[in-house]
Amino acid sequence: QMGAPMNKKVITEDMITNKTENGYNLNFDVNKSYTTKTATVNGKTVTYRAYENIVYVAKPVDIAYQTINIYIPEEYFKNKSVGKYNAKTAPIFFPNTIGGYMPGAAGVPGNGRDGNPDASLVALSNGYVVASPGARGRTLEKDGKYTGKAPAVIVDLKAAVRYLRYNDGKMPGRADRIISNGTSAGGGVSALLGATGNNRDYEPYLKEIGALNARDDIYAVSAYCPITNLENANTAYEWMFNDVKTYKKIDITMLDYNVERKYTEGTLTDDEISRSNDLKKMFPDYVNSLKLKDKNGKLLTLDKDGNGSFKNQIKQYYIDSANVALKKGIDLSEFDFLTIKNGKVVDLDYDKYIAYMGRQKTPGAFDNVDLSTGENNEFGDKTTNNKHFTEYMLEHSTVNGTMADKKIIKMMNPMDYIGSSKVKYWRIRHGAIDKDTSLAIPAILAIKLENLGKKVDFASPWATPHSGDYDLDELFKWMDKIVA
Ligand code: DHB
Repeated sequence: QMGAPMNKKVITEDMITNKTENGYNLNFDVNKSYTTKTATVNGKTVTYRAYENIVYVAKPVDIAYQTINIYIPEEYFKNKSVGKYNAKTAPIFFPNTIGGYMPGAAGVPGNGRDGNPDASLVALSNGYVVASPGARGRTLEKDGKYTGKAPAVIVDLKAAVRYLRYNDGKMPGRADRIISNGTSAGGGVSALLGATGNNRDYEPYLKEIGALNARDDIYAVSAYCPITNLENANTAYEWMFNDVKTYKKIDITMLDYNVERKYTEGTLTDDEISRSNDLKKMFPDYVNSLKLKDKNGKLLTLDKDGNGSFKNQIKQYYIDSANVALKKGIDLSEFDFLTIKNGKVVDLDYDKYIAYMGRQKTPGAFDNVDLSTGENNEFGDKTTNNKHFTEYMLEHSTVNGTMADKKIIKMMNPMDYIGSSKVKYWRIRHGAIDKDTSLAIPAILAIKLENLGKKVDFASPWATPHSGDYDLDELFKWMDKIVA
């Protein structure tokens, strides 16, 4: 039961395609172990080779997750091109399947839940090589030890990147044009992968699993609703939702955005309200410490009540979002929190908008007093299933919880590494009605990246809940542009 998401095929030893008498063959061979597949994308037939269930490290801990699937347009074996690309120029689309910080098996292109071709199929039809890595997650166990706690997920993704870098000359596609994609926890680790390329902090962990000796930096990051900056996500959440005393919450088993959600309604207890007030008060100090600047170079700050230019910026993202919707012809007249003049959204009543969106999580939303969150579970270790990762919750723990290793908390947060990342291109989306984390969290990441001189495409699409891959036309336009 542990960790195997329902209705997904579990990979077993007999399915592994690169197993030899003495371990796993980490040299890719285009002429071996593939099947040829076809699919229809926008009325066009796409033919590609599928190299699946390749273990990407010499000493895997869990072969159900430490594998990669690689898909290559058949044309590239006939010296032909697909769209703008050929075997020499094709970028590599690198989508992870992580949700809820659960284990995620290597992805298989196909039709999504909506029946339309998913991002990987569209990528193949546009001439991309697709390399979908699996990675361990928080619920895995082996011989009575937890095997997928932080930082396993990022270590595995790095090992998969190393496999592609190491084998660059042996397959079509450019390993110096790897574009990572992910949603939610998967968006968080997509950003983390971009932030931490070649960083030495991860080296001991990579060695331990027998990762190849190669670079692990990538070219660009796409992240949908990244659940990230976890140790500041509690305070960001209460800064945004403090006024909302009722909630519609989900069970930890439905955290993963891939799982259908059922909501339970409730009202915050006095203890929770008191915690919310404490956490809200802590957020301004964090924001102010970052010295973020807007596009005009003006400091984005908060006063002790949580008001100020940073809050205005967050409000502006929602206004911009509504304007994009309005331009597309969407009727916004039902929303009395909007002021629309001459065909333009000129104002949004922030408090009303937050109330309309509603609260989904109870305080602390990410690190809780009773160690009940998915993130508490992610920060466990080999022998302890759940741990705290903020001082406040450690002090207020109702279950005598212990603190995760400071270094591991750091290794899970892209904010601590983007200053030394060479990745120039970042595309970040967070739906305007996504309340899995505060919009402040992806916004802080995007603004910090912009302040560092990166090319950042950040937006909060209107009426969009916690989800990803919903704007593939725009995503591929962006990817085609940045690799050119
Ligand atoms: C995901 C959602 C969450 O609300 C969370 O805290 C962690 C992960 C997810 O959908 O992946």
